[in-house]
Amino acid sequence: MDINVKSLNKVYGNKAVVNIDTLTLRKGKIYGIIGPNGAGKSTLLRIMAGLEDATAGRMFYNESLLNDRILRNVTYMDQRPYLLRTSVFNNIAYPLKIRKYDKKTIENKTREIMREFKIGDLSSQLATSLSGGESQKVALARALVFEPQLLFLDEPTANIDPNSIELIEKVILKRNREKGMTPIIITHNMAQAKRLCDEVIFMDEGKIIEFGESKQVILDPQKESTRKFLSIYAM
Ligand SMILES: Nc1ncnc2c1ncn2[C@@H]1O[C@H](COP(=O)(O)OP(=O)(O)O)[C@@H](O)[C@H]1O
Ligand SMILES: [Mg+2]
Repeated sequence: MDINVKSLNKVYGNKAVVNIDTLTLRKGKIYGIIGPNGAGKSTLLRIMAGLEDATAGRMFYNESLLNDRILRNVTYMDQRPYLLRTSVFNNIAYPLKIRKYDKKTIENKTREIMREFKIGDLSSQLATSLSGGESQKVALARALVFEPQLLFLDEPTANIDPNSIELIEKVILKRNREKGMTPIIITHNMAQAKRLCDEVIFMDEGKIIEFGESKQVILDPQKESTRKFLSIYAM
């Protein structure tokens, strides 16, 4: 799905935390959003995922305004994913249950994605008792199990080990290249943004300062504030 953002504004109190003229995201690309704390990244992501209302502005998904049909094809994963107090299997199967898939399909799809994430041995474990990295994989498996077209991820690999990061990136890339899923990922990991994302958006103070091909933005930023932000990362 393409996303078209027009004159988007989000105000808290009297502070504009997101203020975007236009932004176009194209189906089938992988996008990264980078920028300092408080830049408005999470707010923008939640608005695009339909979880929060904008104060003003419009968003189009393939020319339509957000509706239930579109929302059924969208998934969002919070920085601190919330897992249900039940088994790993039930957590991952949940989106399929609410979409009324039949029992056999639920079983097959859930097993298959657990294999993909190498978490099959956690199947009957209580999801709320998992380690940080395990929780992140379970949450992402749950987000992907119904094959969404749009995937919104808020810092999906913060505080997890390199092997798990590699696995998660592989799964995201595979879904993107094979199924045309469009991931939009907030990350503080610049190496990851460069590796995984086709294009990167640099946000500061609610605005899009720079937006372009990821290697270009990260290795050769054009704007002073992008350069300043990136200079704190050793690359
Ligand atoms: N529910 C809220 N009420 C008031 N202010 C908020 C709320 N959510 C976010 N903000 C403020 O909006 C700004 C942008 O926040 P956020 O989108 O979380 O930034 P980022 O994800 O880039 O760190 C911050 O100054 C934050 O304090
Ligand atoms: Mg945030």
